[in-house]
Amino acid sequence: MNSAKPLWGVLTGNFIRPSWAPMILLFTLLAILLVQFSTRPVFSEWLISGRSTAPGGDVADDPRTCAGFFGAVPTRKMVMSITEFGGVGDGKTSNTETFRRAVGHMQGFGEKGGSQLNVPRGRWLTGSFNLTSNFTLFLEEGAVILGSQDPEEWPIIEPLPSYGRGRERLGGRHISLIHGDGLTNVVITGQKGTIDGQGRMWWELWWNRTLEHTRGHLVELMNSHDILISNLTFLNSPFWTIHPVYCSNVVIKDMTILAPLNAPNTDGIDPDSSTNVCIEDCYIESGDDLVAVKSGWDQYGIAMSRPSSNIIVRRVSGTTPTCSGVGIGSEMSGGISNVTVEDLHVWDSAAGVRIKSDKGRGGYIANISFSNITMERVKIPIRFSRGSNDHPDEGWDPKAVPKVKGIFISNVISLNSTKAPVLEGIEDAIFEEICFQNVTLLGLAPSMKWKCEFVSGFSSKVFPMPCPHLQNNGTPSWCSHSS
Ligand SMILES: *[C@@H]1O[C@H](CO)[C@@H](O)[C@H](O)[C@H]1NC(C)=O
Ligand SMILES: *[C@@H]1O[C@H](CO)[C@@H](O)[C@H](O)[C@H]1NC(C)=O
Ligand SMILES: *[C@@H]1O[C@H](CO)[C@@H](O)[C@H](O)[C@H]1NC(C)=O
Ligand SMILES: *[C@@H]1O[C@H](CO)[C@@H](O)[C@H](O)[C@H]1NC(C)=O
Ligand SMILES: *[C@@H]1O[C@H](CO)[C@@H](O)[C@H](O)[C@H]1NC(C)=O
Ligand SMILES: *[C@@H]1O[C@H](CO)[C@@H](O)[C@H](O)[C@H]1NC(C)=O
Ligand SMILES: *[C@@H]1O[C@H](CO)[C@@H](O)[C@H](O)[C@H]1NC(C)=O
Ligand SMILES: *[C@@H]1O[C@H](CO)[C@@H](O)[C@H](O)[C@H]1NC(C)=O
Ligand SMILES: *[C@@H]1O[C@H](CO)[C@@H](O)[C@H](O)[C@H]1NC(C)=O
Repeated sequence: MNSAKPLWGVLTGNFIRPSWAPMILLFTLLAILLVQFSTRPVFSEWLISGRSTAPGGDVADDPRTCAGFFGAVPTRKMVMSITEFGGVGDGKTSNTETFRRAVGHMQGFGEKGGSQLNVPRGRWLTGSFNLTSNFTLFLEEGAVILGSQDPEEWPIIEPLPSYGRGRERLGGRHISLIHGDGLTNVVITGQKGTIDGQGRMWWELWWNRTLEHTRGHLVELMNSHDILISNLTFLNSPFWTIHPVYCSNVVIKDMTILAPLNAPNTDGIDPDSSTNVCIEDCYIESGDDLVAVKSGWDQYGIAMSRPSSNIIVRRVSGTTPTCSGVGIGSEMSGGISNVTVEDLHVWDSAAGVRIKSDKGRGGYIANISFSNITMERVKIPIRFSRGSNDHPDEGWDPKAVPKVKGIFISNVISLNSTKAPVLEGIEDAIFEEICFQNVTLLGLAPSMKWKCEFVSGFSSKVFPMPCPHLQNNGTPSWCSHSS
């Protein structure tokens, strides 16, 4: 908002008191902007400057921050504490009704300057509750929100239309602990407070095969825009930890997300069919991908056709022994494009960078760039994979193959990996314009060779020597704009 104001000031000034000087200035500015747009080599910069309606604060000077998507934490007119609604922070008393009542009350201030619900030091046990618009959930220092151990406190809601069913079980799915649908301008932040999903009960239901409905997320926001989640610790999510789906303008920063390394499907952050999502400065340790970009599952995702695009993942670090640092897919049927991943640091993991797809998915993966990736003891540092035979039902279309084009991987250093990259495209749907530049994978046994199938592209300054699929002569134009 603020970043747009000076321009409007000049414009409106012109209408009231015509004068050539500001007009010339304005046109010069526009001309400079246009030249910059047409010569910008990498889309990440365009993404940052492209957002001018951040609901709070200024766009920061440092271009490499999420500030352009959502500025400073907005101040709210009405601020109340959960204790004013009768909350009890003893770790035993259920506050489910209290949180629901508090948010219900604060909903009334949505159009009157917004509201903030403070959660003070203490252990606040609760079942699922919904958020509202123009609202901040603020966890003070020492505040811990604990997820209820009663599955009935995580009621069943409709499956997502782009999945057609619960991801793990047919039919509906458990709602997330903290949920929002159709909201605008929502902030979840605080002074390093904690939200602990206490997910063990759910992982046990999964392990012992008695789970009846798909597990809930720790935080899920649907059909919402202008969201900021920052400066908190999220622990032990039952399932994927943060799930923005059908959302736009989402910032997730300065977060610590932890789950035991064997906790099933506890992905850190999964932007799903969402646009303009910026994730930065997060430390994530969990039993699944640190970040996974998704967009719906097979025929349901294809029918809904809701892509994920303009996603930035920057300065994320962590470990996941069986999964990857950043994954694209495997659910990608609505399409995924314009993803920039930079300054990623991953260790003791199965993969650093992974693209997952399959027959039946349809959709596309395009314009994905990974740069400045540091890895230690990552088994397969770079992996494209297919064929886990993971479909929602018998209705999937084997002819629906994904189109994968434009994957740029540059400035990668990997120490003590076990395997060279494995790049498996799909028969009849060759992955095209795969570009590797300045990729150094050290510590591999000399017998370790790249494994490539159904991929084509280019490489330069890559060690060990890449597969012939990437050894074309002369830098093609589509590759030169990366790194
Ligand atoms: C991706 O970014 C380019 C500009 O770099 C833009 O032209 C294109 O529309 C973007 N794609 C999507 C799906 O947003
Ligand atoms: C949120 O606040 C904005 C700005 O004050 C207002 O225009 C909008 O109607 C509010 N939205 C809701 C859902 O209360
Ligand atoms: C929360 O929102 C979901 C849908 O978005 C709804 O099904 C559920 O009833 C709401 N829960 C409460 C406690 O209002
Ligand atoms: C984050 O939490 C710390 C610790 O309480 C606090 O000092 C800091 O001001 C918070 N930062 C933001 C941006 O809110
Ligand atoms: C499965 O795990 C749940 C949650 O811990 C437990 O309540 C249930 O008794 C277990 N069922 C079996 C068959 O082990
Ligand atoms: C590369 O990423 C690391 C974090 O993994 C960061 O410390 C470093 O500054 C980045 N280098 C550049 C050139 O941005
Ligand atoms: C990929 O980027 C190019 C150049 O920035 C742009 O023209 C194209 O629209 C983008 N493709 C998609 C699918 O976003
Ligand atoms: C190659 O990548 C490494 C690791 O990110 C980086 O330190 C180095 O500066 C890069 N070299 C060039 C020429 O970009
Ligand atoms: C890599 O392996 C060597 C030999 O085992 C060991 O000395 C070194 O500390 C390891 N480095 C990292 C970063 O794991």
